[in-house]
Amino acid sequence: MKRTTALIAGGTLLLGAALAGVAIARGQGDQQTAAPAPRWSYPLPPARGTGYSSLDTAQPGGPWPVLPGRLRGPEQPIFYRHDIHAGQYRIPCLYCHNNAANSWTANIPTVSTCMGCHLVISAADTAGNPNPEIAKLRDFAARGEPIRWVRINKIAEHAHFPHMRHVNAGLACQLCHGNVQQMPRVFAAQNVNQMGWCTNCHMRRGITRDCTTCHF
Ligand code: HEC
Ligand code: HEC
Ligand code: HEC
Ligand code: HEC
Ligand code: HEC
Repeated sequence: MKRTTALIAGGTLLLGAALAGVAIARGQGDQQTAAPAPRWSYPLPPARGTGYSSLDTAQPGGPWPVLPGRLRGPEQPIFYRHDIHAGQYRIPCLYCHNNAANSWTANIPTVSTCMGCHLVISAADTAGNPNPEIAKLRDFAARGEPIRWVRINKIAEHAHFPHMRHVNAGLACQLCHGNVQQMPRVFAAQNVNQMGWCTNCHMRRGITRDCTTCHF
């Protein structure tokens, strides 16, 4: 996977600008670092094992993390890699999943969010051809067609989960979703559709277990 340094430099600059934008939007513009990590970003020790790649030597602009022997989770319409975006390049989870902090349901980013970077970043090979998966992304954008990502985490229709309450209480995404920043392809690190899991945590932390807070 050879890429031209010029493109990487351009991409990294753009990324820096994008991340600074996020920092300002989150009210942290006074901190001078380009990408202040939100406190829930990387709280857990690195995960090892099937389905995870290692970030030990991954640096922005360097080689991509080596894929694990076996991928887990459903195949997606585009091979979009969290281990590159959220891991190697440390793009904050909320850059793409911003609704997780302000709404009941977390969102999947739109094609235009992707294209904010991929109009420029093409991870081209030495012959100048864009990475084939990025070419697919650009085709979706050209057609104005949304990407039909396969849903992974879902709870029963009769129960309701307010993402923003949990995220704003400081719970790490990884606590419920595992080390997504090390997943080349997302899989469910645990089954979130279990009432006992919800109510156990609520009991330990003294949060309401009134039936109607989750069932209504
Ligand atoms: C550059 C955008 C981007 C960033 C940054 C990003 N994600 Fe994602 N995420 C996606 C896209 C696109 C999907 C849908 C495709 C897939 O599952 O890989 C997704 C899917 C997911 C899913 C599965 C959704 C489902 O169907 O249940 C979880 C969980 C998730 N991301 C968590 C995270 C976490 C945690 C981080 C930070 C460590 C993060 N994401 C960073 C774009 C992003
Ligand atoms: C903030 C900037 C940014 C955003 C937003 C972004 N990317 Fe990327 N993307 C990158 C960078 C940086 C690389 C690595 C380029 C390199 O190493 O040459 C990359 C690489 C890729 C690649 C090739 C590696 C891989 O993951 O398979 C694909 C495909 C890709 N991005 C798809 C997407 C999709 C789909 C979205 C939207 C869900 C998205 N990107 C959003 C910056 C971004
Ligand atoms: C306390 C556990 C918990 C935490 C913390 C948490 N999530 Fe979730 N997440 C869930 C559950 C449960 C679902 C399924 C919700 C549903 O079906 O309504 C889910 C679903 C998702 C989805 C799929 C949404 C969709 O419509 O496809 C994404 C994306 C996601 N979470 C991202 C994140 C991100 C990013 C963070 C951190 C900012 C985060 N989550 C924090 C439990 C959690
Ligand atoms: C890891 C711990 C943890 C898990 C797992 C968890 N929660 Fe929570 N939940 C919390 C915390 C902490 C709060 C309180 C947030 C606050 O103070 O606003 C909360 C608050 C809530 C609230 C709002 C309660 C209110 O006072 O109005 C609902 C509803 C809820 N959770 C549903 C769920 C559901 C449904 C699940 C399982 C799919 C779940 N939670 C899993 C920790 C957890
Ligand atoms: C913190 C959130 C939460 C609270 C509080 C809660 N539930 Fe649930 N409940 C869920 C979730 C999520 C599911 C779906 C996952 C499952 O079936 O385990 C569920 C499933 C159920 C089911 C269906 C089980 C099945 O096998 O299909 C019943 C019945 C139920 N809850 C009754 C109750 C009753 C009665 C209370 C009050 C004593 C209650 N729940 C309190 C989150 C909650």
